[in-house]
Amino acid sequence: MAIFASYYKHIHLTMSIQQDKIAALVERRAKARLGGGQKRIDAQHEKGKLTARERLALLLDEGSFEEFDMFVQHRCTNFGMEKSHPDGDGVVTGQGTIGGRHVFVYAQDFTVSGGSLSKTMSEKICKVLDMAMRCGAPVIGLNDSGGARIQEGIDSLAGYGDIFERNILASGVVPQISGIFGPCAGGAVYSPALTDFTLMVKNTSYMFLTGPAVVKSVTGEDIDQEGLGGASVHASKSGVADFAAEDEQDGIETIKRLLSYIPQNNMETAPFRPTSDPLNRMDDLLNEIIPDNPNKAYDMYEVIRTIVDDGDFFEVHKDFAKNIIVGFAHFGGRGVGIVANQPKVLAGVLDINASRKAARFVRFCDAFNIPLVTLVDVPGFLPGTQQEYGAVITNGAKLLYAYGEATVPKVTVTLRKAYGGAHIVMSCKQLRGDINYAWPTAQIAVMGADGAVNVLYGKEIKAEADPARQAEVRAEKKAEYEELFNNPYQAAQKGYIEDVIEPRNTRFRVIRALESLQGKRQELPAKKHDNLPL
Ligand code: HXC
Repeated sequence: MAIFASYYKHIHLTMSIQQDKIAALVERRAKARLGGGQKRIDAQHEKGKLTARERLALLLDEGSFEEFDMFVQHRCTNFGMEKSHPDGDGVVTGQGTIGGRHVFVYAQDFTVSGGSLSKTMSEKICKVLDMAMRCGAPVIGLNDSGGARIQEGIDSLAGYGDIFERNILASGVVPQISGIFGPCAGGAVYSPALTDFTLMVKNTSYMFLTGPAVVKSVTGEDIDQEGLGGASVHASKSGVADFAAEDEQDGIETIKRLLSYIPQNNMETAPFRPTSDPLNRMDDLLNEIIPDNPNKAYDMYEVIRTIVDDGDFFEVHKDFAKNIIVGFAHFGGRGVGIVANQPKVLAGVLDINASRKAARFVRFCDAFNIPLVTLVDVPGFLPGTQQEYGAVITNGAKLLYAYGEATVPKVTVTLRKAYGGAHIVMSCKQLRGDINYAWPTAQIAVMGADGAVNVLYGKEIKAEADPARQAEVRAEKKAEYEELFNNPYQAAQKGYIEDVIEPRNTRFRVIRALESLQGKRQELPAKKHDNLPL
């Protein structure tokens, strides 16, 4: 009996030690989840910001988050840092699902040393980036940080370098999305800049290399944080941000929506989205949308919404270079990237910013197997010293290059103008466009009639003494040019386009073209890498 009593006492003792350890774990986890403590969480809320964990809770499917490295601590012993070792340090990392799809995440925790980057923090971030690449899953990073952890000196800078290198290696392998939910300054801005998409939150986030005080001392300019590097500035002026969210909730929802249009990795295609929208749906609006006057605008958004599934178009870079529209949509359930000139803004002309914007989008789509549908109405490139001095040549070449090297299915529809170099740039046949259509209203030519008549007959017209006769000759020559060139049939006769289609039938023709290109295989010549004009 005595033996049994001793045995049970031992069991009881073992269990209570185990229970104690479990309780200690639970307690330690709870403390880690508080990051820098309740006071700092309250301060974060007072600024109208959520905490790292609250953001992840909104982003990920309920109950799907598995945290990594919750107990990782910094190793710094400078400036009193040895006295405090918060578990997890200043970033929450792990994996979870969004709409059932596997993703890796990290969210910088401003409540711990202002989310500043320590070497251990960078190791946590690098770990999820490495795992994302191994597993072929997207990475979403939520930034809210005071930059390099000052107490760690060069170790922190090295940490940034390690992250940048991972961002570069992961580029084109898995989608990388950056959300800027607070400060992001100095060299820290380069991680988002290396990723595929950057979203900023209006009024509570900013990105700049040097802050307002340094700007003032160096250039004398008076500018506040929002004016220098706020969401609106980067979404509309610099193009650094693809999206400007109204608030954090809107930002998280936008990230989720973006993810729903893109594939897991470069070996997969975009998720198929079943639709009840009839594949052969015709819309008479398209037969009437092109104005009689070629100098009059119409709204390309109307065309896009009319032809895509369920009118659903998810625009990227909405407020930047509005003369070109880029974004995601579906045709018969298949995900595509749309690039379209917008005649309503600057007559849809191509310029430096429009070229940069569209080139980057085309390259993303090509890297991730997303077919491209291009809607063309472009009068040419914007002339002027501002454009030439700003290297419109190199920047225009980016778009040309992006289309020319893209091997995904490429379907092009020319609605109206396609003049000169701009015609070639916008996914023409010679840049390996797969199926190129034109509406009967298309004008595929070297230039518009007015310009052509000036070059070809300017002297002859001037030689006429009578102004009325001058006008007569000009009109005759214009009519001759328009008859010959301002139509799609020159291109169609030469096989530069596959067909001239009825506008209202565009949806069906695009869907059928995409279906026929499903099995497309095209390789680039072997090379170490290309030398894209930069
Ligand atoms: C260590 C930092 C920190 C940093 C903030 N903190 N930034 N700790 N290193 N870089 C700490 C603060 O000491 C404070 O700690 C807490 O975070 C919150 O900061 P506050 O200043 O109280 O918050 P707020 O008023 O909201 O101001 C936020 C801020 C400001 C604008 C980000 O903290 C700031 O200017 N920080 C320094 C920014 C900076 O110069 N970073 C280096 C950039 S150079 P307590 O304990 O009081 O809560 C760089 C190089 C990268 O990043 C190069 C990559 C190649």
